[in-house]
Amino acid sequence: MLLALQDVTFEFGARTIVQDASWHIVPGDRVGLIGMNGTGKSTLLRIINGEYSISGGSINKAKNLSLGFFNQDLLSFESDDSILEVGMTAFEEAVKVEKELERLVAEMEHNESEALLNDYSDKLHLFETLDGYNMRNKAAAVLEGLGFSTAALERPYSTFSGGWRMRVLLARLILQQPDVLMLDEPTNHLDLPSIEWLERYLQNYGGAVIIVSHDRYFLDKMVNKVVELYQQELHHYAGNYSDYEVEKDMRRELQQRAYENQQDYIRQQEKFIERFKAKASKAAQAQSVMKRLDKLDRIEQVDSGPSKIRINFSVDKQPGKILLTLSDVSKSFGDIKVLENTGAEINRGDKIALIGANGKGKSTLLRIIAGTEPITGNRIPGHNVISSFYAQHQLESLNLDDEILEELKSSGGGRTEMELRSLLGCFLFNGDDVFKKIRILSGGEKARVALAKTIISQANFMLLDEPTNHLDMLSVQMLIDALDKYEGSFVLVSHDRYFVSQTANKIWEIVDGEIKEFKGTYAEWEEHKRRQALREAQANQQAAAEKKAAAAAAEAQKKNTPAPAPVKGAGAIDKDAQKELQKQQKQFSQIESQLSSLNGRKQKLEAEMGEPATYSDQGKFKQCEQEYAQVGKELERVNQQYEKVFDAIMELEAKLGKA
Ligand SMILES: Nc1ncnc2c1ncn2[C@@H]1O[C@H](COP(=O)(O)OP(=O)(O)OP(=O)(O)O)[C@@H](O)[C@H]1O
Ligand SMILES: [Mg+2]
Repeated sequence: MLLALQDVTFEFGARTIVQDASWHIVPGDRVGLIGMNGTGKSTLLRIINGEYSISGGSINKAKNLSLGFFNQDLLSFESDDSILEVGMTAFEEAVKVEKELERLVAEMEHNESEALLNDYSDKLHLFETLDGYNMRNKAAAVLEGLGFSTAALERPYSTFSGGWRMRVLLARLILQQPDVLMLDEPTNHLDLPSIEWLERYLQNYGGAVIIVSHDRYFLDKMVNKVVELYQQELHHYAGNYSDYEVEKDMRRELQQRAYENQQDYIRQQEKFIERFKAKASKAAQAQSVMKRLDKLDRIEQVDSGPSKIRINFSVDKQPGKILLTLSDVSKSFGDIKVLENTGAEINRGDKIALIGANGKGKSTLLRIIAGTEPITGNRIPGHNVISSFYAQHQLESLNLDDEILEELKSSGGGRTEMELRSLLGCFLFNGDDVFKKIRILSGGEKARVALAKTIISQANFMLLDEPTNHLDMLSVQMLIDALDKYEGSFVLVSHDRYFVSQTANKIWEIVDGEIKEFKGTYAEWEEHKRRQALREAQANQQAAAEKKAAAAAAEAQKKNTPAPAPVKGAGAIDKDAQKELQKQQKQFSQIESQLSSLNGRKQKLEAEMGEPATYSDQGKFKQCEQEYAQVGKELERVNQQYEKVFDAIMELEAKLGKA
C-alpha cells in the first residue's frame, strides 16, 4: 500500500467537495480520476499532496513515499538553463556528485594527496551507482519523446512558450520516477504523437499513476481503474474508461430503480401518516412512521444532465461572401519554414478545422488569419468581418477578482443581465454559480467563462485555438451545440477527434508549407485518406507486378524463347472488359454513396447516444445501441464490397492498359 485515504471529508466554506471518501492506492495502479468540471478532482489531488488540511478522516502514506504532481501551478517555475539541464535536475543526487567530481578534478591538478584521490574514486563509484553516465541520455530520450528536437535540447528553458515549458516539466517529473505520479490533465499540453509516446512510456512505469483527464481515448489506453468523483463521493470501478461506461450505466439503472422504489415507499408511508395522524388510536404509530421517514437515508435521483442549448448565437452584421484571402503567403521562424508561397480563402459559412501535429504551425496560421502575425505575402480581409480569438492565454487574461457575471458584463456589448444569465446557463453556470469569483474556478470552469466571452462578442468570425482543453465531455458536447447554433463562421485548431468530427465542414492541413484544403467533414476526410492509402498500395502492387512481368519477358527473350503471340480476338476481350469496367465503376459510385450515408447515420447515432435525453432513457438507449451495432455491421459489409469492387476495377484497368 502506498497511500490510503480513509473517510476523508473536505469542504470549501459551505461547499462540500468530498464526503467520507476512501481510496487505497497500491503499486502498479493506473487510475483515471474522472468527474465533471468543478467537481473537485484537482482539489482532491491537492489534498493528497498535502496542500489542504482535511476536516474529517485520515490520509496515510507509506514511509518515505515520493509524490510527483503535474499541474498548472508548475508554470511559475523559471530558469535560464537549457531544457536538457532542467530535465536532468530530476537526478538531483547524480548532478550533485557530478559537480563534486568536477571540483575534485580541478583540485587534483595541484594537489596529489591520497585522501583526495580516495575521495575522487569513492565519488566516481557513487556516480556510477547512481547511473550518472546515463542521465543525459535518459533526459534527452524523454524530452524527445515529448516532442523536442535534438537541437532544441540546448535552448534555454526561458525561450519556450508555456505549453512547451509544461512538456519540459512533465519530462522532469517522470524522470524523477516518484512512487505516486499524479498528472492533472497532461494531454492539454501535448499533441497526438507525444500523447502516444506518453501512453507507451507509462505502460512500464514502476510506481502508481493517477491521471485526471477528459480524453476518453487516452484514458482507455492508460488506466486499469477508474475513480469517479460524483455527488461528493468517490466511486470505484475496475477496468478502463469503456468498462467504466458500461458499469456506470448499470449502476445508474440500479440507482434509478432503487430511487423509484424508495419514492413509492415514501409516498405510501406519507399517505399512512396523513390518514392517521389525527386519529387518536393510531397517532402514536403515525408518529413513529414519521420518525422513521425522517431518518431514512434518501437515495438520490440519477441526474440526467443539463438540458440542450436553446439560445441563438446570432451575429449582428453579416460579413461579405469572402471573409479572408491569403495569397503567396510565406512564414518562417529562423530556419524553420512554416508556410511557403501558399494561399487559401475563407468563405462565409465555412467551419474549418485545422488539424495535424504540433510544430506544423497551426497556431501560427491561426494568428496569421487573425492578422496578429507578420508575414510576407498578402492577407486581404473581407467586408464587415468582426473576428474574435480564443486561446489558452484568454484564461489568464480573465480578471481574477471579478465574479463570473461581472466578467461577462464588462465585455457583453450591452446585453441585459437576463440575457447574460441565460447564456451562462448554456455554459453550465446555473443559479448562484454566476456570482462565483474567477479566482476560485476550476480549469474547466475558467475555460467556459472565456469561451462564453468569445461567443457573446458578437463576432461573425471566430478563431478558436484548442477550445476543448480543460472541458469535460459534457461541456465539449455543450460547445458542439453552441457552435452548431452559431451563425457566423469559424476556424478552429483541435486534437480532439470527436470534437472536430462534430463541428467542421472543411478540414485544413499544413503539408510541406502548403495549406491543403479538404471540402468535407472529418469522417469524410478520414475515409478519403483511407482510400488514398489503399490506392497507393494498389499502385505499388501494380508497379511491382509490372516490373516482375517485364523482368520475366526480358528473361524469356534472353533464353530466346519467342514471346507469347498476341491472343486472337483481343479486341473482343477489350470490349467486354470495357463494359465490365463501366459496370464496376457504376457499382463503385453506388457503394460510395451508400458508405457516406451509413457513416452519416453512424455519426447521428453517436451524437444521439451521447445526449442525456437518450442515455437516461434505457429503452431509447438500447434501441440506439442496437441500431448502432446494425449500422456497424452493415458498414463492415459494404466496406468489404467496396474493396472487392475496387480490386476488380484496378484489375480491369490494368488489363486495358489504363492503370
Ligand atoms: N479556494 C477555493 N475556495 C472556494 N472554492 C473553491 C476554491 N478552489 C476551488 N473551489 C471550487 O471547488 C470546486 C472544485 O474545483 P477543482 O479545481 O478541484 O475542480 P476540478 O474537478 O479539477 O475541475 P476541472 O475538471 O474543471 O479541472 C470548483 O467549483 C471551484 O470553483
Ligand atoms: Mg482540475
